[in-house]
Amino acid sequence: MATRTPIVGGNWKMHLDRAGARDLLRELRGQLDGLAGVEVVIFPPAAWLGDAADALEGSTLRVGAQNAYWLPHGAYTGEVGAAMLVGTADYVLVGHSERRHVFGESDEDTARKLDAVLGLALQPILAVGEQQEEREGGRTAEVLRRQLDAAFADIDRLPEGFTIAYEPVWAIGTGLTATPEIAQATVAEIRRMVADRFGAASAEACRIQYGGSVNAGNVADLASQPDIDGALVGGASLDAEAFATICRAVAAAAE
Ligand code: PGA
Repeated sequence: MATRTPIVGGNWKMHLDRAGARDLLRELRGQLDGLAGVEVVIFPPAAWLGDAADALEGSTLRVGAQNAYWLPHGAYTGEVGAAMLVGTADYVLVGHSERRHVFGESDEDTARKLDAVLGLALQPILAVGEQQEEREGGRTAEVLRRQLDAAFADIDRLPEGFTIAYEPVWAIGTGLTATPEIAQATVAEIRRMVADRFGAASAEACRIQYGGSVNAGNVADLASQPDIDGALVGGASLDAEAFATICRAVAAAAE
């Protein structure tokens, strides 16, 4: 039986002013500190990472950055180096579809970011996922394999607790959640790809979240699928009640 601890990420994207962020952090801490059976990571906008680290210090909630640049410092106006996040963030999201498709980040950029994060005292969450026309064209497995192969090009061992977020692009922010059956089948496929590359034990230990229009109403059916180890939540993570319900449902599904 798998002993993976599920993980729920709250990806705030580019939302909330400073006061709103502080309020939400306080509410989330009140609702979720000490919740057993699930790891909870809050991904605020970069501007509020320090506030998040302060607000969540000493709690069981973790802080994540939505993005980071691979070089440690230099003349890179507007970027935040992964190395600068050490001590503030615990996690870094790498390869989110909005980075890939809105900002044009390549598979190689994603690999550089993953390598940088893995070389530091930070945990990555590697996001992968196919676009609608890729799924409709029967190319989902090919796309996922390409994204994973590129991201893992320089990695020969998967660190303990490594997390992948499977986020079909057509389900992100659209309200079109993948059915639990589709999500389970695709996550199981990703786990087989991880096994091909790193072996069965690493694949069994690897956490794979589902993301894409997860909400308080649909999370239980998704989280109860055998290969799905939690959720990466966008829109619903901005509502403390909804996000707390999601985290509790994931913890309950893992019992
Ligand atoms: P959503 O976003 O929950 O709003 O669909 C998920 C994500 O982008 O991680």
